[in-house]
Amino acid sequence: MGDSQNFHKVCSLDDIWEGEMDVFEVGDQEVLLVHIEGGGVRAYVPVCPHQDHPLIEGDLDGKCILTCSAHLWQFSADSGEGVNPTGVSLNAYPVKVEDGAVFVVFPTASKAVNA
Ligand code: FES
Repeated sequence: MGDSQNFHKVCSLDDIWEGEMDVFEVGDQEVLLVHIEGGGVRAYVPVCPHQDHPLIEGDLDGKCILTCSAHLWQFSADSGEGVNPTGVSLNAYPVKVEDGAVFVVFPTASKAVNA
């Protein structure tokens, strides 16, 4: 409460093991969570920036390289930056881990209506 950013609980940290990724739904939003080996969780829009292919169908290797299954573009799962090709990046959401749970800030489509 009182956060300047609106964090939404997505899942328990135990729901994604280190070195794994999964897609979660929160309301009408979807988020790809990646649990980086060695700790840390990243949250991304779950589709590839190339042609919107679902990233969950791709592969996450031990070095935290996320490879899209459609045309094999590769991204750092840690920073979201393109590895091959470079100059592109995954769209990230702010994320935090607190009390064993993962929280994400989604872009808001609606605005507070106040006269
Ligand atoms: Fe992901 Fe083309 S849609 S590499």
